Amino acid sequence: MNLPRLAILASGSGSNFEAIAQAIADGMIPAQIEVVIYNNPGALVAKRANRRGIPALLLDHRAYAQRQDHDRAIMDELHKYGVDVVIMAGWMRIVTPLLISAYEDRILNIHPSLLPSFPGAKAVEQALDYGVKITGCTVHLVISEVDRGKILAQAAVPVLPADTVASLQQRIHAQEHILYPQTIREYLREHFGQS
Ligand code: GRF
Repeated sequence: MNLPRLAILASGSGSNFEAIAQAIADGMIPAQIEVVIYNNPGALVAKRANRRGIPALLLDHRAYAQRQDHDRAIMDELHKYGVDVVIMAGWMRIVTPLLISAYEDRILNIHPSLLPSFPGAKAVEQALDYGVKITGCTVHLVISEVDRGKILAQAAVPVLPADTVASLQQRIHAQEHILYPQTIREYLREHFGQS
């Protein structure tokens, strides 16, 4: 059986990678993670990938003069591994139209707010500062405008009176780990005819 080939792009801890890889290992998502690409030396996601026997490749953006050069290096790897779908999981870099057009409607991202509220890197802090009573997480397609692509799925997380950024982030993370694998499964079923 030809399973859809995924690449994970991550910058840090990789807990979402772990949840997705576990869902695949459990047979919940019929797919294969071909490669994890990360951009920060020492990112924990590399260790997590190694433990699972998945190739982890460091492409440090600091080594490239232009954003496009970094994207080109990423694309070379995606092509080399025959990747069908790119899963951004805590990828903290803006990608250029070069990569986005090569994988149009085939790049997914997860964001720790109910988009279109609180796009950008400070979503959890901003939700707390505004005093919203419900926030959450969103899985969406990636387009050139950051955090603005078509929304595929969302989960709500109540903000509690005693919440700190850390406590709220932790509860959002817990929802992400459920929502992202489910959404990837649905997405692949729709686009690749998987059961
Ligand atoms: C998640 O909260 C995700 O929404 C955001 O970055 C965080 C990544 O966490 N884009 P992890 O690296 O998957 O643990």
